[in-house]
Amino acid sequence: MKTPIRVAVIGCGPIGNRHADLHKANPMADLVAVCDIRKDRCDAAAQRLGVQGFYDAPTMLATIKPDVVSVATGGIEYGSDHFLPTIQALEAGCHVLCEKPICNTIPEAEMMVATAKKYNRCFGIDFNHRFTEAAKVAKKWVDDGLIGQQLFINMSMWIKNPNESSPFYMVKALNPHSVDVMRHFGGDIVAVQAFVTKAPGRTIWTTMSMNCKFKSGAVGHLSASYDIERGHPMERCEVAGIKGRFVLEDMWREATLYPAGNLIKQVYTNPVFGGHRDFVDTFQNRLATFIQQVADDTPPELINGSGADGLAAQKVLQGAIDSIESGGQLIWL
Ligand SMILES: NC(=O)c1ccc[n+]([C@@H]2O[C@H](COP(=O)([O-])OP(=O)(O)OC[C@H]3O[C@@H](n4cnc5c(N)ncnc54)[C@H](O)[C@@H]3O)[C@@H](O)[C@H]2O)c1
Repeated sequence: MKTPIRVAVIGCGPIGNRHADLHKANPMADLVAVCDIRKDRCDAAAQRLGVQGFYDAPTMLATIKPDVVSVATGGIEYGSDHFLPTIQALEAGCHVLCEKPICNTIPEAEMMVATAKKYNRCFGIDFNHRFTEAAKVAKKWVDDGLIGQQLFINMSMWIKNPNESSPFYMVKALNPHSVDVMRHFGGDIVAVQAFVTKAPGRTIWTTMSMNCKFKSGAVGHLSASYDIERGHPMERCEVAGIKGRFVLEDMWREATLYPAGNLIKQVYTNPVFGGHRDFVDTFQNRLATFIQQVADDTPPELINGSGADGLAAQKVLQGAIDSIESGGQLIWL
C-alpha cells in the first residue's frame, strides 16, 4: 500500500490520544481524523492534534475514508465499546487496530474476527507487551530452538487498579496481555483451571491464579492481580524447555537466557540510549508494526497480534471464569 498510511482514531480518551500522538509522530502514517461521541473529548483532541474531528464513526468513515482505524474506545469491562466501531470500520474497508480486550463478550469478538475475514482486512489488537525489544529477543530464542521443547511457562502481571465495575473485571481487562504473552511464546492453550481471591476491602475478584495446559503439551501458570501498588516492576515471564530457560523481566527491561548445561548466560538489557523510556514506548512499537504490516500488504492472517489472537485470549479467560464459577473445575477449551 502507498505510504503514508492515512489513519483515524475512534475514541479520544487517554489511550486514543496516545494512539493519535504516536500515529502523528510516525513518518509512515498520516493522522487524518479523530472521532468521539463525547463532543468535549473530540473537540479537544481535534484541536490539539490539528486534524478534523467527528462525533460519529459512520460519518467520519464516509467522509475521510481512512486506510487504518485505531479503535480506542472502552465501555463495560474496558471492551464492550470496541465492537460497533470495529465492525463499522471493517465494513467501510478499513484495516483496524483495536485496543484490548478485543471485546467483553465472546460472540461479539467472534463476529469482529469473522467480519475482518469477510472483508479481507488486517485486524490487530494492541498487544503492546509482545512488541518490546526484550520480548522480540526472547521470541527469537524460542524460534531459533534455544529453548527446545517447552516444559513450562510461568507468567505474572500485577498493578493497582481500584475499578470495581464487574465481578471479573480484573480477569477480563488485565489478562488479555498476560495470556497473549503466554500464547506468543507457548502457542495455543487447550485447558485451564483457576482460583481467585481479593485484597481486604475489595468487592470483586482482584487476584487470580490460573493453571493451564498448552497444545504443545507444556504446562503453564499465571498469577494476576489488581491489588499491588504501582512503582515496582509489574510483569515477569519465564519459559523453560529442555534446551534452555529464559526470564523476561518487566516487559522491556531485561531478558535472560539460561542455556541448559552451560553456565554462561545471555542477557539483553534495555539500553539507556535508544531503549524504552517508559510504558508509552511499548505502544509505539506495536502501533508502528501494524502500520508497517499494512504498508507491506501483509496478508491479514499474518498480522502479528491479530484479532484471532485477541479472541483466543478472551476464550482462555472465559475458561478461567468458568473454572472459578464451578469451584475450580478443569475446563477444556
Ligand atoms: N494496551 C494497553 O496497554 C492499554 C492500557 C490501558 C488501556 N487500554 C485500553 O484502551 C481503551 C481505552 O481506554 P481509555 O482509558 O482511553 O478509555 P475511556 O473510556 O477514557 O475513553 C474511551 C472513549 O471512547 C469513546 N467512545 C465510545 N464508543 C464510541 C463510539 N462508538 N464512537 C466514538 N467514540 C466512542 C468514549 O466516549 C470515550 O471518550 C480500553 O479498551 C482499554 O482497555 C489499553
